[in-house]
Amino acid sequence: MPRAVTDLGQVLDDPSIDVVHICTPNQTHVEMASAAMEAGKHVVVEKPVAVDRPGASMLLDVARRTGRHAAVALTYRGYPMVRRARELVHGGHLGRLRLVHGGYLQDWLSDANGYNWRVDPAAGGVSRAFADIGTHWFDTVEYIARARVVAVMADLATLVPVRHRPVRSGAAFSGASGTTEPVSIETEDVATVLVRFEDGARGTLVVSQVSPGHKNDLTIELSGSDRSLAWAQESPEQLWVGARDESALLARSPSGAGPPVGIPSLPAGHPEGWAEALRDVLRPFYAAISAGGPPPDGADATYPTLADGARGVALIEAVVESARIGRWVDVCPIQTPSEPYGSRTFPGGPVG
Ligand SMILES: NC(=O)c1ccc[n+]([C@@H]2O[C@H](COP(=O)([O-])OP(=O)(O)OC[C@H]3O[C@@H](n4cnc5c(N)ncnc54)[C@H](O)[C@@H]3O)[C@@H](O)[C@H]2O)c1
Repeated sequence: MPRAVTDLGQVLDDPSIDVVHICTPNQTHVEMASAAMEAGKHVVVEKPVAVDRPGASMLLDVARRTGRHAAVALTYRGYPMVRRARELVHGGHLGRLRLVHGGYLQDWLSDANGYNWRVDPAAGGVSRAFADIGTHWFDTVEYIARARVVAVMADLATLVPVRHRPVRSGAAFSGASGTTEPVSIETEDVATVLVRFEDGARGTLVVSQVSPGHKNDLTIELSGSDRSLAWAQESPEQLWVGARDESALLARSPSGAGPPVGIPSLPAGHPEGWAEALRDVLRPFYAAISAGGPPPDGADATYPTLADGARGVALIEAVVESARIGRWVDVCPIQTPSEPYGSRTFPGGPVG
């Protein structure tokens, strides 16, 4: 029976609840997820898992110490054709990776009436467009390519410098209505990022939340020495495979990448989309909890872990720093702190 409460403490005190999904504004993730794990709950944490390096590091520490399963909703890994692309790369079909490019374009903040907690650094963090959607692009690329980005050169721009904030409440994913007040905006509307991979491959990414007509336009193309692969989130059941002699458009098929082990999927020809992708990211997480084993450690993970989430935070940090100093910046892994979690505890009380 569905039940709603406004106090996280009531959720954490309820022994019938095994898993807590943290789907609140970014700035709240670390304290809420930590409190949930300390209370013995497994967690699903939304991206970005933290708004800074210390927060991500603390989350890793709490997860390790409490032994709880902790997944991150890196949704795009769940698409069948993304997994198919990963298999093709693993099978050597691309040859040596040379170039990765693409974009993540949206339009919901195109005009000054677009307002949401994300534009406020106090709620969303210092990066907005990159943290919100650019991190998805990087995670999906690294997941497909099985290659790490080691350095970035980024330019961030705020192209709508003043927005109209609703005086009473924020309107998610829509223009504000009613009384508003002007607010100066510091977080970026667009990010352009040059990328270097560990094996010498190069890349480029364009991120925007102010590109009219683009709704959730995530595109990825990888070129290797033998073949290229291209995937677009808005046509998710297709994967383009390019070669010098003959190119092909693959459709999801029973012989292609199936769902993660043990997960029923719709038969080919019955289009799957964003909701099914999120389902397929989370089902292995719930299966792992049901199996009763410890959380996965590293490469054996069947679901995106906090380490993957912390990787996104490291990328945000590198992109923001690169834009600040105008130079290439290395992406430095986030470690678990040697010190215990310390005095940061969830303050409790009603939630808004
Ligand atoms: N994985 C994905 O593909 C994906 C997609 C969308 C959003 N997200 C992430 O999900 C999170 C939420 O984004 P959204 O678009 O759903 O935001 P939203 O504004 O639509 O929803 C946030 C919810 O959190 C509640 N809330 C705010 N402060 C709270 C508090 N202190 N305690 C308890 N509840 C509180 C609000 O009432 C609201 O219901 C963000 O971190 C975002 O990055 C991830």
